[in-house]
Amino acid sequence: YPAEQQKMVDAHELIGKLYHHLLINTKEGADALEYLLSRGFTEEGIRKFKIGYSLPEWDMAVKYLKQRGFQEEELEKAGLLIKRESSDGFFDRFRNRIMFPLFDSHGKMIAFSARAVNPEDSPKYLNTPETAVFNKSSLLYNYHQARSEIRRQGFAVLFEGFADVISADQADVKNGVAVMGTSLTQDHVQLLKRLTDTIILCFDSDQAGLEASNRAGAMLAEQGLEVKAALLPQGMDPDDYIQKYGSGKFQKDIIGNALAWTAFKLHYYRTGKNMQNEGEKLKFIEEAMFELSQLSNPIERELYTRQIAEEFSISLEVLEKQQKQLVQVQE
Ligand code: CTP
Ligand code: MN
Ligand code: MN
Ligand code: MN
Ligand code: MN
Repeated sequence: YPAEQQKMVDAHELIGKLYHHLLINTKEGADALEYLLSRGFTEEGIRKFKIGYSLPEWDMAVKYLKQRGFQEEELEKAGLLIKRESSDGFFDRFRNRIMFPLFDSHGKMIAFSARAVNPEDSPKYLNTPETAVFNKSSLLYNYHQARSEIRRQGFAVLFEGFADVISADQADVKNGVAVMGTSLTQDHVQLLKRLTDTIILCFDSDQAGLEASNRAGAMLAEQGLEVKAALLPQGMDPDDYIQKYGSGKFQKDIIGNALAWTAFKLHYYRTGKNMQNEGEKLKFIEEAMFELSQLSNPIERELYTRQIAEEFSISLEVLEKQQKQLVQVQE
């Protein structure tokens, strides 16, 4: 990094060490630590991900970093301080929060995502704003640590939240990364594509997660990656699942049973439809035929078409004819 940006990194490394120390060694951090342990974070996980705690004070980072030669203006640019509106001076952006450091692809600490300890504090996660060194739409959480495992295992697991990444890592799924509360971007796709040709999506099992999987998967497939989608019981996220059922079941039943992309799309089109209703049933079959008409592999196409033919007692010929028409409409 150029000097000015290197200073932003240095400030993060210093304050990040202090936050981590406060969490694991002090009375002030005891409640936050208890919260993390009670929801299943391990001491090893807390150390590996350098999780910390910021005190409920307005000037802890101000004082600590000023003493160490940093200017308030440069700390504001780094996202650590906020300028007061009514009077002179600056105050800490992060107060009374669990601090998850964010690292660049070389493992340099460049930002934070800070989780509220009190459920009534909003937002739940407060992130560093865009800075000269941090752009949340091009960062994948845990990329620097997962990189070698992704290469070794031949696939990456893409999560929605970093609690999921940490939980999975503790459950020995060490090739997980997450977007930072944004949609997947082309930058993310390129980062993944450098390491592997196969991505397993493992998003929260709610409507938002399903829509996000559909969008992310389409982007990844578009760029030539093989995409699978791991489905969780309704309403759960990967972290919830691992805490409830353990790592063996997560690896075997969830990651191991991830759906191929076409199977996921068929599941996606089914969701929310009542198959007892003729109109909704026809709508599903139409969407499914369109999806299958796009497949380039004839074996794959026939396999899925047969399944639908059997399920709805429609002849294979009729379904195939419909697919051909859909392709012709496009041409
Ligand atoms: N997120 C965010 N700001 C929020 C809520 C969410 O940036 N106010 C991002 C975070 O990166 C979070 C991800 O979106 O990890 C997924 O959100 P959510 O599923 O709500 O959070 P969890 O990771 O499940 O967090 P927790 O288990 O701590 O509730
Ligand atoms: Mn491969
Ligand atoms: Mn979610
Ligand atoms: Mn979640
Ligand atoms: Mn969660």
